[in-house]
Amino acid sequence: MRKARDPEQTVTARTIGAFFAAGVVAMIAVVFGVVTLVRHDIRDGAVRGARDVTVVTGRIAIAPLLTDKLLDGDPDALGKLDKVVREQVLSDTLVRVKVWKADGRDGRIVYSDDRQMIGRHFVLSDEDLDVLKSGRSSAGVSDLREAENVSERQYVHLLQVYDALRTTPKGTPVLFEAYLTTKAIQNNSSLTSIAPAVVGGFLLLFVLEVPLLWGLARRVRRARGDRALMLERMLRIGEAERRRIAADLHDGIVQQVAGSTYSLAAAADEADRANIPNVAASVRTAASDLRQAVRGLRNTIVAITPPRLHDEGLLTALDDLASTARAAGLEVTLEVDPPRISSPKADELVLRAAQEAIRNVVAHARARHVTLRVDARNDRVNLVVIDDGRGFAPAAQASHKGDIHLGLQLLSELARDAGGELRVTSAPGAGTEVALEVPTQ
Ligand SMILES: Nc1ncnc2c1ncn2[C@@H]1O[C@H](COP(=O)(O)OP(=O)(O)OP(=O)(O)O)[C@@H](O)[C@H]1O
Ligand SMILES: [Mg+2]
Repeated sequence: MRKARDPEQTVTARTIGAFFAAGVVAMIAVVFGVVTLVRHDIRDGAVRGARDVTVVTGRIAIAPLLTDKLLDGDPDALGKLDKVVREQVLSDTLVRVKVWKADGRDGRIVYSDDRQMIGRHFVLSDEDLDVLKSGRSSAGVSDLREAENVSERQYVHLLQVYDALRTTPKGTPVLFEAYLTTKAIQNNSSLTSIAPAVVGGFLLLFVLEVPLLWGLARRVRRARGDRALMLERMLRIGEAERRRIAADLHDGIVQQVAGSTYSLAAAADEADRANIPNVAASVRTAASDLRQAVRGLRNTIVAITPPRLHDEGLLTALDDLASTARAAGLEVTLEVDPPRISSPKADELVLRAAQEAIRNVVAHARARHVTLRVDARNDRVNLVVIDDGRGFAPAAQASHKGDIHLGLQLLSELARDAGGELRVTSAPGAGTEVALEVPTQ
């Protein structure tokens, strides 16, 4: 037979699962945040570095060759510049050079190492004009879709750096532009070293915390187990005590009083024979009162004796309970659809709950009628006790912590410990329904 899973263990596993899920979400968020920040940092650093290299190159290597003749397309000046660019400036990183002359928004390429671009005109952007006007360099990732970048499209991304230079001797402002590959930006080596460190740190945290969490959960489970045992023991002690009192009453006072009724009956007969009828009548009345008292005592004994399951089974025990309630003046409807598969533990809990519910109806409800229904569905037993009494407000009841009202609370804890549930539905004037559901295994 399949062993039912311990609900406590399921809860523990679920708690640890939730802890892990939260940890994974936090880890993803942290890794994502760190990677984004680092990537930005690397990118900014690369852009700054590229700009500095370009500015220095432009001012040292290019500026001395920017003559006024060059602006007029003098082949000699172009040749000199081209030689320096090819021999000293171009590299794997710096892949393209352009020199622009601006006329308003119109830009003419005065020189480029890509010769076919020399002499072509393009509209200058605000940024280009700003560099020319302020003399401050600027850098950014270039948009290779722009027309002026046709010959650079072989690269996926390029860094574009602008600087403002002047010709000699007239000092006409020209725009020096260089394109650099973005190897530095695309180099993710520091990311690939950071991400495992962060993930590893989190994993280490998990590994260290899980045994602690597990130990804590086990201790909580053990404490709950101890409490359930204590509850069980308390109930058993209470029941044993009630059984002892019932037995004492039955064997002591009930026997004595019952014996006295016989003696009184004999005394009444004797008074009759002695012809003192008024004494005989008084004695008979006393005997009858005493018999009534004995009946009352017997009912009390039945009421305080905890019903036993033992061999008679749940149905008989519930029948006894119904008789007790009838003796207390209630109309009782008993509907039992006995579960085919049940367990002694579930039956005992059902009986306890039925007993407490009936005791409460007798003690508090002032009801006329009570229905006791038991049935079993899907491996669970259901008990429902419904009365038509005065009802109460369960929430208000629960807040009276100082009072000693233990019956329903104890039952609810017992039900929970057995993997079931106790629900009490009531309202002033609307009767009370106590419903218990417990697994049969
Ligand atoms: N069927 C009912 N009808 C009306 N009131 C009820 C009913 N059942 C419970 N109560 C109210 O709820 C209170 C709590 O019930 P509970 O069984 O927990 O404690 P108790 O019966 O007062 O004491 P104990 O069961 O510990 O001897 C009762 O005191 C009563 O006011
Ligand atoms: Mg009670």
